[in-house]
Amino acid sequence: MQIIQKLDSILKDALKEIEDSKSLPSLEGLRVKYLGRKSRITAVLKGLGALPKNERPSAGKASNEIKRKIEGALEQRKEQLSRDIFDGIATTERIDITEPGVQGPKGSLHPISQLSMEIEDIFMSMGFSIAAGPEVESDYYNFEALNIPPDHPARDIQDTIWTVDQTLLRTHTSSVQVRTMETKKPPIRVVAPGRVFRYEETDASHEHTFYQVEGLLIDRDISVANLIAVMRTMLREVFKKDVKVRLRPGYFPFVEPGFELDISCHLCNGKGCSVCKGSGWEELIGCGLVHPNVLSKSGIDPDVYSGFAFGMGLDRLVMMRYGIDDIRLFHSGDLRFLKQF
Ligand code: DAH
Repeated sequence: MQIIQKLDSILKDALKEIEDSKSLPSLEGLRVKYLGRKSRITAVLKGLGALPKNERPSAGKASNEIKRKIEGALEQRKEQLSRDIFDGIATTERIDITEPGVQGPKGSLHPISQLSMEIEDIFMSMGFSIAAGPEVESDYYNFEALNIPPDHPARDIQDTIWTVDQTLLRTHTSSVQVRTMETKKPPIRVVAPGRVFRYEETDASHEHTFYQVEGLLIDRDISVANLIAVMRTMLREVFKKDVKVRLRPGYFPFVEPGFELDISCHLCNGKGCSVCKGSGWEELIGCGLVHPNVLSKSGIDPDVYSGFAFGMGLDRLVMMRYGIDDIRLFHSGDLRFLKQF
């Protein structure tokens, strides 16, 4: 029977091509070729009508069977090809999850952050807590409440970056003193490290942006002796040895008496060098006993309480500690510099 022979030879061709096909798209092409509407099988079936009636059923049956076989072969080959693809991925893209990863470069804390955290720890061990205030500050907290009214000549000492409406970038962390006294009742012991800003031309020892630590202690019967003791303890911890200090009178409107606290030059040990300009001393901390005006403005009775306050430059302290001679290095973002700490 001619038709059956034709179908058989189509089947043979199909099975061979399916067996040889190497990819899923080419397999899909074969499916269209052998089972689609324009396939050879369809063409053969169109000739079915010309057959004698009694031969038609067996020819129809044979064609269905062939279709099924082709479908089966396609399915099998598809599975095989999919498996091969995954096996290929498994061997070429194998991931060894036990292999150690590649370590990226590690960053480190800025030397100013390091010292700031150290100082926080030192003061916390003396019973202080940490306070903070905003960098964009009002005239009131930065000046007025600190006994520096408008037109006071002390405003000229701290060249200010003004923003708008009596708002400024704080020129010192002393602004946090007032905010603390407004919210806490004595006894008060706080330190407030933070960033401050001045309208300043930069050079090796001046920056428009730098860091300070402010300290405030208020209780009954606080005297200059308490202030000196706390400063000495802090400096001993920072420099890991006893540091010689001296007090000179200093003018800050928010303290009375006010002092400049100098430390014996860390580099030359007081002998005199280029860093201390031959004097053997380094100016480090502004301090004093909190002015009664400041206490009463913040709602603390100066007849009952007294206290001391201090403020020191963190950049300065880091420079002394490591013998750094240019403050601009801190903001340079230069990794050659930063990696040393
Ligand atoms: N705020 C002062 C400054 O930036 C430093 C200072 C001096 C702070 C005396 C104080 C202080 O708390 O009592 O120059």
